[in-house]
Amino acid sequence: MPDTTDRASSSQAFDATRVAVVTGGGHGIGRALSRRLASVADAVVVADLEGGAAERVAADIGGHAYCLDVASEADLAALVAEVEETLGPIDLFVSNAGVGYGDADDGAASRGGRLGPVDDRWEACWSINVMAHVYAARALLPRMIPRGGGAFINIASAAGLLSQIGDAAYSATKHAAVAFAESLAITHGDDGIRVTVACPQAVATRMIGMPDDSGAADGGFGGNDVDGILPPETAADLIVDGARDGRFLVLPHPQVATYAQRKAADHDRWIAGMRRFRARLAASDD
Ligand SMILES: NC(=O)c1ccc[n+]([C@@H]2O[C@H](COP(=O)([O-])OP(=O)(O)OC[C@H]3O[C@@H](n4cnc5c(N)ncnc54)[C@H](O)[C@@H]3O)[C@@H](O)[C@H]2O)c1
Repeated sequence: MPDTTDRASSSQAFDATRVAVVTGGGHGIGRALSRRLASVADAVVVADLEGGAAERVAADIGGHAYCLDVASEADLAALVAEVEETLGPIDLFVSNAGVGYGDADDGAASRGGRLGPVDDRWEACWSINVMAHVYAARALLPRMIPRGGGAFINIASAAGLLSQIGDAAYSATKHAAVAFAESLAITHGDDGIRVTVACPQAVATRMIGMPDDSGAADGGFGGNDVDGILPPETAADLIVDGARDGRFLVLPHPQVATYAQRKAADHDRWIAGMRRFRARLAASDD
């Protein structure tokens, strides 16, 4: 936990945010983050693969829409260059866009069989859930460091600490996203780079099969809603508040801290517990 001096300087820096960019800002958690950041920053850039969705959110919050594919390093580099040229230095970059597809029927290491090539889904998870965070940092660090710093919020998942039953590619790539955020914070903290990684469990968005922009608070999500489904606005508030407080790790579902401690204390016991949990979920599906 940062000391109070760190917290005060972090909140001052956060409140001085002029330009913020949110990827995947067209829907779900990214849309809620864009809305919340509009009350902090002078300019919020809503960047999304779905240009129409980005435009709707940007119009709603008085922000700027940008259409890109975060899996493309060229797209991310162009976004950073264009925003800095037209709006000014980016103070805060939120890598939120993410995807998950679930395992094929034959399990964690499937080739796909009748469901089609699973390696395509692994590639998409790797480039969108991990490399997009690397590309954003690669484009921004050479700009932020000479001007004294900047901030990243990277949206990972509880699956990046605990593994998600039924989605090996999502779990592996979200672990990688957490590890990349750790490296970014360790390597560039002394350069004035502030890093926050968020690891929520279930949030009510399209990703978990909820209607877009729904206020619904329950639904079936393979057991990952065990601690409740947060509205995206609540998740966004907790994430932004955590970043403003200078926290590295934000857990919108606080139970995740206990699970991660249990896992670290006895990995074998944790695996056994997860196997029992998986069996219970499979039985309840029958
Ligand atoms: N919903 C949850 O339960 C949950 C839990 C933990 C973590 N997360 C993470 O939160 C983040 C946001 O997810 P969400 O639940 O809001 O999902 P969502 O599907 O509602 O929104 C994702 C947004 O990302 C955009 N996007 C997807 N691929 C993109 C690409 N290649 N380039 C640019 N934009 C792209 C989509 O168009 C969409 O607007 C993801 O990283 C996800 O893994 C979600």
